[in-house]
Amino acid sequence: MSDSRRRIIAGNWKMNCSRAEAIQLASAIVADSNLNNNVEMLICIPHIHMADISKLLINSKIYLGAQDAHWESSGAFTGEISSSMLADYQVSHLLVGHSERREMFADDDSRVAKKFAAALNYGLKPILCIGESLEQRKQEMTLEVLKSQCQAVVDVVGINAFSQAYVAYEPIWAIGTGQTATPEQAEQVHAEIRAWFAEQSKDIAAQLPILYGGSMNAANAEDLLAQDNIDGGLIGGASLKVEDFLKIYSAAG
Ligand code: 13P
Repeated sequence: MSDSRRRIIAGNWKMNCSRAEAIQLASAIVADSNLNNNVEMLICIPHIHMADISKLLINSKIYLGAQDAHWESSGAFTGEISSSMLADYQVSHLLVGHSERREMFADDDSRVAKKFAAALNYGLKPILCIGESLEQRKQEMTLEVLKSQCQAVVDVVGINAFSQAYVAYEPIWAIGTGQTATPEQAEQVHAEIRAWFAEQSKDIAAQLPILYGGSMNAANAEDLLAQDNIDGGLIGGASLKVEDFLKIYSAAG
């Protein structure tokens, strides 16, 4: 982490938690967290729980995020919800292009770019998720894949839009597998992503938070977060356990 950039610990609850479980988890996070002004805490929760959880967070400094949203603000898109609807619930951040959505829900680069643009349009901070598969890593295509995922968004919104966004590097082979990139592996990739952004704008690159995601947990967070170019974490499984999530948060402080 660098002192000059914003630091963020974000939970991605994915499709987990009944209504009662969501309320219990968020309440415990609010009650037990000891927030540090230098580190942002964010929970990205299922849409259905927004009304309950936005009320719970209202007097806390914990940010509320969503995991996906359509690019249009309204219309005949059965089953979808929009960034403008989320904004009504004090949602401040939106995950865009998570690999699970890219792989299972046809979120290609073009949709991801449109979702990113719509989030910005409605005042949500997009968190652009990028990552390579194991196959792509073995073929030494990691950087090529990451750059093209970023380029597709820059082509649509322009580089300056990234002053209002974060990037999350989530190697697909490390998601939900318990297998983590080593701190050195992750740092190398983060530094290369930042160098790519610096080719477009040194200022944007210098301030852009790049989070690591992929089996970050209470045991490995400190070593990962000690790296210069790792500005925070996007945490799946461990964000569902209050104690683990708060330990990870403390490691960023
Ligand atoms: P895990 O932390 O469960 O590996 O999930 C990472 C992730 O996908 C966060 O968005």
